[in-house]
Amino acid sequence: MTQIKVVGVLGSGQMGGGIAQVAAATGLDVKLADIDLATAQNGKAAIEKRLMGQVARGKLVEAEAQAVLTGIEPVNGLADLADCDLVIEAASENLDLKLKLFAELDKVCKPSAILASNTSSISITLMAGAISRPEKFIGLHFFNPVPVMKLVEVIKGLATSEETYLAVKAFAEQMGKEVVSCEDKAGFAVNRLLVPFLNEAIFALEEGVASRDDIDRGARLGLNHPMGPLTLADFVGLDTCLAIMEVLHKELGEDKYRPAPLLRKYVAAGWLGKKSGRGFYEYS
Ligand code: CAA
Repeated sequence: MTQIKVVGVLGSGQMGGGIAQVAAATGLDVKLADIDLATAQNGKAAIEKRLMGQVARGKLVEAEAQAVLTGIEPVNGLADLADCDLVIEAASENLDLKLKLFAELDKVCKPSAILASNTSSISITLMAGAISRPEKFIGLHFFNPVPVMKLVEVIKGLATSEETYLAVKAFAEQMGKEVVSCEDKAGFAVNRLLVPFLNEAIFALEEGVASRDDIDRGARLGLNHPMGPLTLADFVGLDTCLAIMEVLHKELGEDKYRPAPLLRKYVAAGWLGKKSGRGFYEYS
């Protein structure tokens, strides 16, 4: 089975940063890449800030935090991921961008390397079809915040080999995650359930069914969810929610998956949730 020792993470935002942190905490060598070195360094600085917050709260020993940070090397773009055994792409949820990144990774990475996408909804078979090693391509979908959430969805494309699947499943389990294996269908298992729920909460807000705070309070108190759906949509990113709803709508072809007009409006305004400082709530 492919031995995974050096892991490349392409994309240093909230998902990529979380994946890099957990992989390094497992003792793997991690190369963190983004559009350039400065962006990857900023990604590492965000990880450091989170870890130091945990040290300050007495949740983590400083030496452990330093060991994680030592394991993460920010690099200058994807050309520096050539010697990785596994590269996990965690860029924006945009098909054209992902196709471009995987075409470049396919050229740069050693032939034995596995390429994985952290996509939350885009077809694995479609992305695999665009590279020369579809048997070494797989979906590896983490949940936010990656260090806290136990689940990883592993998604085989039509051409993904059993060897690739087993290597990636073992890698996820080595990271302390639990694996759910999914078919390559839009949204896989969890976002097929979650994102229409978040979208429906936005419809309910738009229709005046209840106030923002009461919709969220209802889900917290009535469903025992840790966050209400409007808070969670802000946390996931409203642009990501919209991108996922658009994929569900297009691929599954039913009106019940149409994105809420208010969601489109917020994204058009640049109100993307927590990461932009404003979504259904304001963040300072
Ligand atoms: N990054 C890393 N760790 C974080 C974090 C972050 N962004 N936010 C919180 N944490 C950690 C904290 O450090 C804390 O860990 P310690 O106990 O070791 O200190 C732990 O999480 C709990 O944090 P808090 O006590 O501050 O806050 P909380 O009890 O309110 O929990 C939460 C926060 C874990 C995020 C919780 O509200 C929750 O589970 N929310 C739902 C999250 C969820 O549904 N995620 C899935 C999103 S969908 C997705 O990711 C898929 C997709 O493709 C769209």
